[in-house]
Amino acid sequence: MDQAIDNKKQTTGSRIKILMRLLKLVNSTSPWMLIISMITIVLAAASNVIGSLFIERLINDYIIPLTKEKVPNYGPLATAIAVMFGIYTIGFLSNYLFNMLMGVLAQKVQFRVRNEMFTHMESLPISYFDQNEFGDIMSRYTNDIDTLMQMISQSIPQFTNSALSLTFVVVAMFSLSWQLTGFSFIIFAMSFVIVRFLTLRSSHYFQVQQKKLGQINGYNEEMLNGLKVIKVFSHEPESKAGFDKYNEELRQASGKANTYATILFPIMGNMGNLLYVLIAFVGGATAINAWAPLSLGAIGSFLQLSKQFSMPIAQISQQLNSIVMALAGAERIFNLEDQASEVDNGDVTISRGAEVGSMWNWNVPEKDGSVKKVPVRGHIIFDHVNFSYVPEHPILHDISINAKPGMKVALVGETGAGKTTISNMWNRFYDIDSGKITYDGIPIKQIKKDDLRRSLSIVLQETHLFTGTIMDNIRFGNPEASDDDVYQAAKLSHADEFIHDLDHGYDTVIDGDGGDLSQGQMQLLSIARAMIADEPVMILDEATSSIDTKTEKMVQAGMDNLLAGRTSFVIAHRLSTIVNSDLILVLDHGHIIESGNHEELLKQKGYYYELYTGKKEIQ
Ligand SMILES: Nc1ncnc2c1ncn2[C@@H]1O[C@H](COP(=O)(O)OP(=O)(O)OP(=O)(O)O)[C@@H](O)[C@H]1O
Ligand SMILES: [Mg+2]
Repeated sequence: MDQAIDNKKQTTGSRIKILMRLLKLVNSTSPWMLIISMITIVLAAASNVIGSLFIERLINDYIIPLTKEKVPNYGPLATAIAVMFGIYTIGFLSNYLFNMLMGVLAQKVQFRVRNEMFTHMESLPISYFDQNEFGDIMSRYTNDIDTLMQMISQSIPQFTNSALSLTFVVVAMFSLSWQLTGFSFIIFAMSFVIVRFLTLRSSHYFQVQQKKLGQINGYNEEMLNGLKVIKVFSHEPESKAGFDKYNEELRQASGKANTYATILFPIMGNMGNLLYVLIAFVGGATAINAWAPLSLGAIGSFLQLSKQFSMPIAQISQQLNSIVMALAGAERIFNLEDQASEVDNGDVTISRGAEVGSMWNWNVPEKDGSVKKVPVRGHIIFDHVNFSYVPEHPILHDISINAKPGMKVALVGETGAGKTTISNMWNRFYDIDSGKITYDGIPIKQIKKDDLRRSLSIVLQETHLFTGTIMDNIRFGNPEASDDDVYQAAKLSHADEFIHDLDHGYDTVIDGDGGDLSQGQMQLLSIARAMIADEPVMILDEATSSIDTKTEKMVQAGMDNLLAGRTSFVIAHRLSTIVNSDLILVLDHGHIIESGNHEELLKQKGYYYELYTGKKEIQ
């Protein structure tokens, strides 16, 4: 991720807005922690300055008189030292307390933000994920949250502490001697110019370094993902050459960034010492020459203050930098949280139960407030549906389908014809542009999305399994299913056979990407997962594409049993899978060009006939 570029896009106004929003978030997470932190930050800054000012009295009122007494009485001095000790102890404790509190607070905020982000992410429409890369979304959970956390736990409290210290120190210095303060300012301004120049140069190269780091990480990720393709095409040397290029660029950028940093840090670190020496010299001279007489105590205090003067300035600029970086991250997090969730105006729900003689029922709210139970029959109608993923690029054209209850409807057509898109309309991953889709006569927009999706068992074209046991993965389709239900579904889908061959059978743990299984085995598992859901309507999108024809036939038989009485949509390239369908729709570039059952379509001697007889191949 290129934070340097992101930073540039932010204006001061938008940064302040984000900061305020962040403060609100921190405040609402734990108001009392924030208040105590603020108080302790003020105490910490004040006690340091008060401690330094106290040196003046310590020297003038307690130490110098002692030198004039014949028999020195150390009592008052001991009391004064005890007071000073008290002041510094308060400072130390406050420092400890605010650091600890802000640390805890940052943890709480981080926990909350992660939670909110994940919950919100799940509510986002699929189209959001079409437009945003996964890596980019992921980096909000990693980099952005980390910098945010660091900002809350360190940068902001340190910045406030430094700013307050600086104010207190300057006031205290003025109160002691405006002449010496003026002198310190001049020295400081001179060194500031040098430091500023070096900081600008080094921060530029640090940004370049960050960018190069992002590039090399992105490159590595891509190469890792494509490792097998690289090996298959023996592209290792090219891949290494690409890596070398990024690595060399990164080395150069880091080299430059560090050259400036190595000059900068010693200068910044020693500026305080330089100021100290000069003030000691000038202060001593004034005390002797008496053109601006200063007591010995005041010089002592002033020297102490001058040390505290340069330090916060260096810190402030450093912390400002990291705050600006973190605000860019915060903005990206808030951006995700501000994305509109999927719209769901549906009030028709679905419930399981045999009250009206069917397994599943619609609960349709009536005008008088009562709820009418209507059995789910699975009658699905597409009425002149048009759809485009991207405006101006229509994908589906005037699609009309009448899938009567219990029908097996097949969609065939070339790659990219729009088959998966049609199933996406039905489960409302996307909303149609015009036309109407009804489910048992109810427009699907009136059905609550969760319930609509719960009424459909879907085997998606892209198989995805989750890290966990085989048992968990099948049960994903219906968390209430018993172990026996799982075995049953696995037997029906013929997954049972390969599961038995695994070392730990149903308890075998598989990777999130199913890395240890074959494509076909993964498909069998996702069919079992859909079967166990036992829902009124099934959509199978290339569910058996990677399964050998013999197993496919067996799966088919099991599935036909299961599908009996249910409406089902089957998408398949292999026509043998769909010949027994009640209705076959032939799709071409988003148009339905032929429809009918197998025999009718063969008689038409059109596109389907050509496909079936092998005169036309589906690419
Ligand atoms: N998320 C998306 N954003 C934009 N266009 C998309 C998106 N998904 C698919 N398309 C486009 O819509 C068209 C239809 O795609 P679809 O996935 O429905 O094809 P398909 O018939 O299922 O093909 P296949 O047999 O390869 O699975 C294609 O031209 C594709 O490029
Ligand atoms: Mg598809």
